[in-house]
Amino acid sequence: MSNIAEININGNTYSLPIIEGSEKETAIDISKLRGQSGAITIDPGFKNTGSTKSAITFLDGERGILRYRGYPIEQLANKSSFLEVAYLLITGELPSAEELTEFQKKVSRHTLVHEDFKKILDGFPSTSHPMGVLSSLVTALTAFYPHSTDPARSWAQVNLSIVRIIAKMPTFAAWAYKNKVGQPIMYPRNDLDYCSNFLYMMFGLPSTEYHADPVIADAIDKLLILHADHEQNCSASTVRIVGSSQASLYASLSAGINALWGPLHGGANQAVIEMLEGIRADGGNVQKWMNKAKDKNDPFRLMGFGHRVYKNFDPRAKIIKRAADDVLGALGVVDPVLDIAKGLEEVALQDDYFIERKLYPNVDFYSGIIYRALGIPTEMFTVMFALGRLPGWIAQWKEMRENKEPIGRPRQVYIGATEREYVSIDKR
Ligand code: ACO
Repeated sequence: MSNIAEININGNTYSLPIIEGSEKETAIDISKLRGQSGAITIDPGFKNTGSTKSAITFLDGERGILRYRGYPIEQLANKSSFLEVAYLLITGELPSAEELTEFQKKVSRHTLVHEDFKKILDGFPSTSHPMGVLSSLVTALTAFYPHSTDPARSWAQVNLSIVRIIAKMPTFAAWAYKNKVGQPIMYPRNDLDYCSNFLYMMFGLPSTEYHADPVIADAIDKLLILHADHEQNCSASTVRIVGSSQASLYASLSAGINALWGPLHGGANQAVIEMLEGIRADGGNVQKWMNKAKDKNDPFRLMGFGHRVYKNFDPRAKIIKRAADDVLGALGVVDPVLDIAKGLEEVALQDDYFIERKLYPNVDFYSGIIYRALGIPTEMFTVMFALGRLPGWIAQWKEMRENKEPIGRPRQVYIGATEREYVSIDKR
């Protein structure tokens, strides 16, 4: 294969280098095109634009493949643990037994947050969405750890910031929930594993003894693994672009949390359950809602369906669907919403509209059902996603800084007014 692409612009031919990835993905490097020809490329939503060369996650949407650092998601979800996967994503390699123990110990040591965070939390009304609270608390970390705002200073400082945020996110997430329901916050317990500690802080109360159900803790661990990274998605790209201005890790992660919040991204898991409940309340007529989703004059979309890159199936959705059955069975939960979800999936997979557009259930279609069965309230679903995605964001931010990538700054095609004379207000 030639490693040069040629482009003809107004009769002039320009040669552009072709780059090949380790999985034989092909990209045309257009970075010098404007300098040579004056032309830029345009691609709203970056549907066909690579923003970086990355060694973290490989994804093949056509073949339904997802691998973190080369390891298939199916193997990691079945055999690994969330903290092991976090270590893998952030450092590039699986830890040895000693390295994992050391990492777990470090994370356990940093779960507590400064008492003044309680004052910040108190300032939020109970109407606050936990995602807004979470992103605010993460940004607030910069005030408590001022050295973290200058990550260029030392990698030791960056590594400490990384451990701190992995340790404190569950505390912030659980406290955001406690604030919402008006219950006293629970302090972290370092004798518990990552997910059991989170559940304890979410559901524990000072007046009663709480022990996390291992079925629930294991299911949460698996869900966090499935969400841990997804290459250059909306929130990861946000983290990278904010970090490219040399903003701190915490500031960049907080931006990622906000990007994740929207219903077209991580907010879809909440939107799916709200949609399924709406369908149920409306009598459960699946076909009626399918027709609405297909009607171009109706803004309704089938939430949890479709994906920017998966055009065959989302491998995470397959694992989650199976896990939903297992978890609901183990906990003895009967959820009529699960039946509506299965009915919708069945109809959609045979419908020409969905087949032609390659719209399949994505990771969020079944994750909300599991979270519900596990007792996680709907408004916390996207927070759960953020907890899982954290190591991916960190890995993306770290890679961007290690590679000394330039500040992210796209160009545009201007379509506004051409130059015109200002007319003072009394003459208009
Ligand atoms: N329901 C009905 N029609 C849909 C849906 C849907 N869920 N998703 C896409 N379509 C249609 C579009 O109307 C469009 O039709 P057209 O070609 O006739 O105009 C076509 O399929 C392509 O859709 P786009 O919006 O152009 O695809 P894009 O790649 O930009 O969007 C997205 C992907 C945002 C995920 C979209 O499928 C969607 O809105 N899904 C519902 C929200 C959702 O589940 N988001 C979670 C994504 S996973 C994640 O972030 C973790």
